[in-house]
Amino acid sequence: MLNIAVMVSGGGTNLQALIDAEKGGQLRGARIALVISSRPGAYALERAAANGIEAVSLGKAEFPDEGEREKAILGALRGAGIGLVVLAGYMSILPPGLIREYEWRIINIHPSLLPKHCGMGFYGKRVHAAVLAAGDSESGATVHYVDEGVDTGPAIIQERVPVMEGDDADSLAARVLEVEHRILVAAVNKVVSEAGQAPGRGPGR
Ligand code: GAR
Repeated sequence: MLNIAVMVSGGGTNLQALIDAEKGGQLRGARIALVISSRPGAYALERAAANGIEAVSLGKAEFPDEGEREKAILGALRGAGIGLVVLAGYMSILPPGLIREYEWRIINIHPSLLPKHCGMGFYGKRVHAAVLAAGDSESGATVHYVDEGVDTGPAIIQERVPVMEGDDADSLAARVLEVEHRILVAAVNKVVSEAGQAPGRGPGR
């Protein structure tokens, strides 16, 4: 069993999708062992607690210094024997040492068709507002490996949704979120099942 850490900042519906998949036996070869939030008030922490998952807030509030924050997060990941880190609505930038230590073992979900509408400042509703402002006829969601850039690592799974007449950021977000919940579970299963098959890449390395 591979131990997964899910990193969150807000409502945690993507975390819930992973929890539901694990409960339903659809998460193959992996279990959610730890939830780390960047904010103490994140509702995702309550979802973790309600499901008996160890959860902790290790953000700027607890560790204003980036070096200390990195140490705390790395300590928690090592302590729980984490083999794969899933960023699911994590709105903070990961410290670079953590990205190096967990290279090819961190994945992120982004609510657009990467490489469109991403990078610093493009998160949550802002992404959907940018899609509408650009007049795009479609949007979607992407799960990708995390490298030291913002939303720049190689894609694992991407799925499209149409932009509908009369959409606002909320209606588009809801349509994309449905896809997110599905492809996040699929991407975790894909990464876990490929672990060890590609040397130098993936959680089994
Ligand atoms: C999701 O749409 C996720 O893709 C997005 O935040 C939302 C979190 O929802 N992430 C980003 O924008 C990261 N750049 P959730 O807390 O309900 O899972």
